[in-house]
Amino acid sequence: MGNIEELKGMIDFKNGHIDRRIFWEDWIYQLELEKLFAKSWLFVAHESQVKNTGDFITTYMGQDNVIVTRHKDGAIHVFTNSCTHRGNRICFADRGTARQFTCNYHGWAFGTNGDLLGMHEEDHYKGHIDKSKNGLQNARVETYKGLVFACFDDEAPRLEEFLGDFRWYLDIILDQTEEGTEFLGGSIRNMYNANWKFGAENFIGDSLHVGWTHASGAKAVSMGHEVPEYMPVDPSSFHANANGHGWEGGIDGVGTLELVSSGNPRLVQYFEEQRQSMAKRLGDLRARKIYGSVISATVFPNFSFLPGINTMRTWLPKGPRQFELRAWTMVNKNMPDDIREIVQNACAMTFSPSGIFEMDDGENWENSTIANEGFVTRKQHLHYGLRVGTSRRDDPELPGNISRPMYSDVNQLAFYQRWIDFLTAESWDDIPKVR
Ligand code: FES
Ligand SMILES: [Fe+2]
Repeated sequence: MGNIEELKGMIDFKNGHIDRRIFWEDWIYQLELEKLFAKSWLFVAHESQVKNTGDFITTYMGQDNVIVTRHKDGAIHVFTNSCTHRGNRICFADRGTARQFTCNYHGWAFGTNGDLLGMHEEDHYKGHIDKSKNGLQNARVETYKGLVFACFDDEAPRLEEFLGDFRWYLDIILDQTEEGTEFLGGSIRNMYNANWKFGAENFIGDSLHVGWTHASGAKAVSMGHEVPEYMPVDPSSFHANANGHGWEGGIDGVGTLELVSSGNPRLVQYFEEQRQSMAKRLGDLRARKIYGSVISATVFPNFSFLPGINTMRTWLPKGPRQFELRAWTMVNKNMPDDIREIVQNACAMTFSPSGIFEMDDGENWENSTIANEGFVTRKQHLHYGLRVGTSRRDDPELPGNISRPMYSDVNQLAFYQRWIDFLTAESWDDIPKVR
C-alpha cells in the first residue's frame, strides 16, 4: 500500500514525466474510487433517455451501479441499485419504464425516487423499521443543456462551477439549436482489458496517434485519403483545457464533416445551411470555424465525445486493468431523418465494436496497461513532455488554458493535474476552483 506523498511524486508536471504505476496499482485504483469517482460530478445520462415519468436507465458511478429515473414530480433521480435489506441488485434491465423497483430476494419495493415503499409480508416489520430511513442512496443530480450529471458528495461545488470555462466548448455541440439535442436509442458497449484513464487521456488531446494508429482505417473510410488531408498540421489548431476537462481540435470547420460524409456530400451541405442560425447562438468562431473540424474532447474524469462524429461515451472503471465503454450517438432534435441516418451510420462505421477506429485504439490501450506493469519496466517514467508548460489562460477568443498547435501533451498533463488534485485532497478546500 502506497501513500499520498508517494502518489504526489508520481507526476512531474515541470518535465512531463509520469510514473507507470498509475495505470495498474490496486491501491491507486482504490483511491480513485474513494477520492475521485465518489466525489466528482459524473455524466450518467442524457435527459432524452428518461423523458417520461417512470423512464429509467442503469449505469455506473465509479463501480457503483446506479438507476437514473424520471420521478412522478418530473425530477430526475439517481440512486444506488442495491437493496437496503441484503444488498441484492433491484434492477437488472439496461433501460425501461417502471412504477417501482421490487427486489427479487424478499420483495422490498422502492419508488422511482429511491424511497422504500414497502415489502412482502410487511406486518412482520411493524415497530421494527423506519421505512423513511431505509431508502436507496440518492446522489445529487444537475443537468447541463440536456446532459445529466450526478455526484455522491454533498460538499462538491455546483455542476456549473465544476464544468467552469469548459461550458463554452460543450455549448458547441449542445446549443446549436433552440430545440437542443437527444440521444438515439440504444448504446454500444465494449469491455477493454485496460486502465480507464487511457480512454480519457486519448480523447482529451492525443492528436498524434491519429495519423499512425488509424492510418489504414482513415484511408478506408475516406476513399483513400491520407489523414493529413483532413487533419492538416495547422498552427492555429489548439489544445484547450479548464478544470481538467479538455478539447483539442482545428479551426478549418470541415475536417470531421468531410470525413464522416465521404461519398455522401449531404451532411456537409446540411451543416453549411445550418451555420448561419448556429452562428446566431454560438458566434462565428464556434459555428463556422470550430464546429466541423477534427475535434476530440473529455469532460473530467471519464466522459468523452467527438463533435461531428457525435459519439458520446463513458469509460466505466472495473478495476485498474479493465473498463467498460458505453457509447451513444447524439443528434440535434430538429435534424431531418436522412441526416440522423448519416450521423448514426458514420458513428457505427467509425466508433463501435465493428468500427474501423475503435479497435485500433483498444489494442494499444490494453497493451500499454499490461506492458507498464513489468517489474523493471515500471521503474522508467513515461514521457508526457511535448510542449509542456506552453498553455496560457489569456487567449483573446478561447476560454481556458490554450496551447497551439493541437499536437502536444498539454491537455493530458492538465487532466493528470486535476486527477492528482482530487486524489491528494483532504477536502474540497484543497482542490482549486479554477485550474
Ligand atoms: S435483499 Fe432485497 S428484499 Fe432482501
Ligand atoms: Fe483513436
